[in-house]
Amino acid sequence: MSIISTDLSKAIAILNKDALVAIPTETVYGLAGNIFSEKAIKSIFETKQRPFFNPLIVHIPSVDVLPDIVSYIPEKAQLLADAFWPGPLTLVLKKNSGIPDIITAGKDTVAVRIPNHPVALELLQRLDFPLAAPSANPFGSISPTTAQHVNDYFKDKIEMVLDGGPCQRGIESTIIGFENDEPIIYRLGSTSVEAIENIVGPISVKNRKQIAPDAPGMLDRHYAPKTETILVDDISEAIKKHKDKRIGILAINSPSEDDGIAFQIVLSEATDLQEAASKLYDALHQLDKHDLDIIIAERFPDFGLGKSINDRLQRATVRA
Ligand code: TXA
Ligand code: MG
Repeated sequence: MSIISTDLSKAIAILNKDALVAIPTETVYGLAGNIFSEKAIKSIFETKQRPFFNPLIVHIPSVDVLPDIVSYIPEKAQLLADAFWPGPLTLVLKKNSGIPDIITAGKDTVAVRIPNHPVALELLQRLDFPLAAPSANPFGSISPTTAQHVNDYFKDKIEMVLDGGPCQRGIESTIIGFENDEPIIYRLGSTSVEAIENIVGPISVKNRKQIAPDAPGMLDRHYAPKTETILVDDISEAIKKHKDKRIGILAINSPSEDDGIAFQIVLSEATDLQEAASKLYDALHQLDKHDLDIIIAERFPDFGLGKSINDRLQRATVRA
């Protein structure tokens, strides 16, 4: 049976009794619970099979609530919040003492954002507490961008998926931390590096190894289909190399003519990076259902959202 519903009052009732609801955001669906309910937060970790050392993002309805969550806002954090909220940008800031340790994995910082989705915003406005919401997928697997994706993962484990349609952005929020008040990108995402640099000037991206002590959850293998996946510059060369396998193709803008292909998806005929990002995870979900031996994904140009898409595709290639 489906647990998908658009009933906002029902979602509020479930969250008020310390249970979980999967909620739509502009990036991906989140598995949401009351940040102040130990029961709810524990069940987020349990449901996702997520290790406790991986902290959660706190979702708030407006900047007015920010002082309840964080104790200090560097000037450049304020500029970024003004520029991108509500939107796909998460700020990691010094936490307010009222934020439970289980949310931050014991760290003195907390990740926070205002999602840009009308249903999520209305829900957050009508609740008396912010929502912790990691992506609504089992730890390490492909993030959900439709209510159906969440239903497929968790229909026996949670009571409800609040349906807000397919996610318009399709890749998780960009995460920015601060060191000596200077911003650093911790995770590439739906807000491009270039857009961020327009607001705060040149910014560096911490690679995963550098981040590991700060965000141990950012493991290499993430966003991964079950099918072996490779990321290549030249699709036709890769097809030749794997010709005795059942091949799936994930192409940027044009289909392959090769008849040795079992299934293929073109992400954006117009090479529109936002369109490609919004379709990326659904394409991986679909490819994973086709009993393929291998998924050959085409590398995107390394700018704008192309950088973020390549980051996710790169992680999809890491085997368990
Ligand atoms: O777009 C998004 O951000 C989605 C939607 C649902 O909002 N959420 C999401 O959450 O992607 P999740 O839990 O899948 O990823 C959160 C990331 C983790 O990699 C975690 O390590 C990092 O945020 N994080 C959370 N708190 C942190 C902190 N205090 N310091 C550094 N990294 C932190
Ligand atoms: Mg996730």
